[in-house]
Amino acid sequence: MAVLLSWKAEHLLNLPEFDDQHIAIVEKLNSVHAAILSGKSRSTLVREWHALLELLREHFAAEERLMKRERCPSLERHKNEHDYLLRMAGRMPLTSAATSLVREWLLTHLKGSDTQMADELRSR
Ligand SMILES: [Fe+2]
Ligand SMILES: [Fe+2]
Repeated sequence: MAVLLSWKAEHLLNLPEFDDQHIAIVEKLNSVHAAILSGKSRSTLVREWHALLELLREHFAAEERLMKRERCPSLERHKNEHDYLLRMAGRMPLTSAATSLVREWLLTHLKGSDTQMADELRSR
């Protein structure tokens, strides 16, 4: 079965803790996607989806903690993006539209705000 999002070296920030979290998020996203496509039971889908949201919440909190500690100038805008995704993802019916939303958001956020965060952290 085709994966929804293939992890690539270009997605690495070279911040190992966050890279590992991103990889775990992508793996979970792909497993939710596979569960939807293969018609898994509602309870399995909901369990997988909540596990994904939990990984996202923990990861966002970790980024925001470090950005706050290091006084990164882009923290507020960055946090707004995290909050937006959690709000949207919490509201969507559990179909492939929900996993596509997370996929598109992740790709944009990794390339934009997370990359900027890594640059700011390295310049501290
Ligand atoms: Fe982020
Ligand atoms: Fe991130």
